[in-house]
Amino acid sequence: MSAGHAAGAGTGHAAVVGAGHAAVVGAGVIGGGWAALFLAHGLDVVAHDPADGAEERLRESVRRAWPALARLGLAEGADPHRLRFTDSAAEAADGACFVQESGPEQEDAKRRLLAELDEAAPPSTPLASSSSGLTPTTLQTMCARRPERVLVGHPFHPSHLIPLVEVVPGTRTERSVVEETVRFYTALGKRPVLVRREVPGHVTNRLQAALWREAYSLVERGVATVADIDTAVSEGPGLRWALLGPLVNQHLSGGAGGMARTLDHLGPPAQRWMDDLGTPRLTPALTEALVRGVDEELAGVDQERMVADRDELLVRLIEEKRRRRSLP
Ligand SMILES: NC(=O)c1ccc[n+]([C@@H]2O[C@H](COP(=O)([O-])OP(=O)(O)OC[C@H]3O[C@@H](n4cnc5c(N)ncnc54)[C@H](O)[C@@H]3O)[C@@H](O)[C@H]2O)c1
Repeated sequence: MSAGHAAGAGTGHAAVVGAGHAAVVGAGVIGGGWAALFLAHGLDVVAHDPADGAEERLRESVRRAWPALARLGLAEGADPHRLRFTDSAAEAADGACFVQESGPEQEDAKRRLLAELDEAAPPSTPLASSSSGLTPTTLQTMCARRPERVLVGHPFHPSHLIPLVEVVPGTRTERSVVEETVRFYTALGKRPVLVRREVPGHVTNRLQAALWREAYSLVERGVATVADIDTAVSEGPGLRWALLGPLVNQHLSGGAGGMARTLDHLGPPAQRWMDDLGTPRLTPALTEALVRGVDEELAGVDQERMVADRDELLVRLIEEKRRRRSLP
């Protein structure tokens, strides 16, 4: 599989060129986003999902994603109708130039699905799993034929919009497969981050877990409400984090002395805060408090409108960020 790409921003850019189609196996929340993204970049997509009504749901999710993708720039020939739905995972993988597996996050289900995909996909085709939790080396044990082309390509919801994708090779993944996968995702306008060692949750979910852990603890200790925690992030550092990561932001807060100055004068108190962080357990009581807190926060909020506005602002932010070459 080879992937070529011309400039991501603007309309009418060249299609991702590959011999064959992209296979989308598992067409739920995440697979639906991948399918829309692949189609918007001028690929043919062959999808499989055994659930009742899966094809209609997939076509509907592509239809809903299309305006935002069109705004970000469709490739020449991009067409939501270049989507074919098949009755089996093997048929979707047969002749594919790239396989993106997004089936259920259960080890047994992944085992059956990956074995079938590994048997059916051309041997040189990368087989990427969207798995949030399973390590690629575990996934490779499920693929007896060509484990060297298996790796994790972990996206973020909504996966047709969020640029980040974590590329995680397993112990047996060939370097050329990693390079090809990074090229492929880059050609789709994604921003791949290569994870250099396998750890549960890869990188970004661990970072999110660190924040959730303290958020849950603050709720449990009665320090802040769920709504206040969300406001504290979305109206505070979250605004900066969408533009520059937490470490460059820390560097900037040191003024002319940069990161060294920040760590010199804020490092010791930060160490005390880190030492005081909570280690909550998701007990039934805490779970109930978190669910109730979110319900209270969203009382009176039109959630459909909220999600539509989130997606529209996301597209605008992504467009603007693409124009500013000064951001790392
Ligand atoms: N939801 C997220 O935020 C998120 C983010 C990143 C990665 N992921 C990962 O993406 C994968 C899919 O998650 P999701 O949230 O889309 O789940 P989901 O439940 O929305 O979708 C899973 C789909 O797989 C289908 N399926 C079941 N058996 C199958 C089979 N044998 N072959 C093909 N499809 C089959 C189901 O019918 C369902 O539509 C998981 O591995 C998950 O860890 C999820």
